Amino acid sequence: MLTNRQLFLLHVGQTSPSPMMLEIARAKGIYMYGPDGKEYIDLISGVSVSNTGHCHPRVIEAVKNQVDEYMHLMVYGEMIQSPQVKYAEHLTGILPPELSSCFFVNSGSEAVEGALKLAKRFTGKSRIISFKNSYHGSTLGALSIQGSELYKNSFRPLLPDTFQIGFNDEKSLESIDNKTACVIIEPVQGEAGVIYPENSFLDKIRERCNATGALLIFDEIQTGFGRTGYMFALERFGVVPDILLLAKALGGGMPLGAFISSKEIMSALISNPVLGHITTFGGHPVCCAAGLASLSVIIDEHLVDSCNSKSAIFKNELSHPLISEVRGEGLLLAVQLTEPDYIPFVIAHAPDYGLILDYFLFCNNAFRIAPPLIISEVEITKACILLKELLDCAMTNAKN
Ligand SMILES: Cc1ncc(COP(=O)(O)O)c(C=O)c1O
Repeated sequence: MLTNRQLFLLHVGQTSPSPMMLEIARAKGIYMYGPDGKEYIDLISGVSVSNTGHCHPRVIEAVKNQVDEYMHLMVYGEMIQSPQVKYAEHLTGILPPELSSCFFVNSGSEAVEGALKLAKRFTGKSRIISFKNSYHGSTLGALSIQGSELYKNSFRPLLPDTFQIGFNDEKSLESIDNKTACVIIEPVQGEAGVIYPENSFLDKIRERCNATGALLIFDEIQTGFGRTGYMFALERFGVVPDILLLAKALGGGMPLGAFISSKEIMSALISNPVLGHITTFGGHPVCCAAGLASLSVIIDEHLVDSCNSKSAIFKNELSHPLISEVRGEGLLLAVQLTEPDYIPFVIAHAPDYGLILDYFLFCNNAFRIAPPLIISEVEITKACILLKELLDCAMTNAKN
């Protein structure tokens, strides 16, 4: 009989020649466990998804209760499904009043696609401006606006009339003009290696969009739900976008995405043509129930409040000759090493030390730390001790 490892390589579509290849039998809280019972501290949350940890009892209960009631009923937008309306009500209730209408989809990429279509449809314009080193997903529209040529070139032709300008490059904001349908930006760039806007960059973009009639889209797919020490990063900067994109932690571990806007803007998808964006599974009731339970946990357990003190522990503890900088706020951190050559070794050998780490797509000299927000101070200290042992090992072995 073939092992799961062999079957994975034989029958599961691969995304790279060097997948992590770690088999996990179960996961609970901040831990994952191999089939042999080996414990791993999850320091990446499945890339900013498991903010309330794996299998939080309240999320599990919500999923089980919903499965007992109903699963898929009908394509999105036709029937009134209680988990969907309740989640939309809760979400819009904690967002600025302009963001009052929530369109649920299946993933981050689909939220991006929906938002780009909405902006084009609402403004009647086609130009889309995004940023260098931005990541918005892997579908063709999302790929077209990605800020890295490496991943785009082999898939051309992509969407026309899309331009990438420099993040924090104030001068380039002049290219937002009256032909621009929208500007899409991650308020904190994730895959670029946790890069924050400087000198009120987001305010300046907001002003430029107001002046030209372009819609401002914030992609908070990675930064949402407490990750940066605020429920949403937009609160940190005091800038309200016309469209907000959420996914990842939105579903509490289940697949769910959303683009959220005003009722006025959102209504552009209703007519001319009717069914401007449709999706079979978008806003799946089980995913919405899980997401709502997870959001309630974040609020009830005050997980956002503790994020910055937890971040400070990582920053204090992570002092090592190989570390040149620990960048970021809240629990979305980039640990930058003195040389990029160490990164593959550190990530590949992290499981040997009981840790799960990951790369950034566009930052080759740093690795990501984004644990579940429920991680305790004691667990952070333990993770940092293991990390420093791993770095010691990298220092002697990575270049041999
Ligand atoms: C900022 C950002 N936008 C969009 C996406 C795409 O989301 P998904 O993988 O759910 O399609 C990601 C995924 O990593 C992301 O980090």
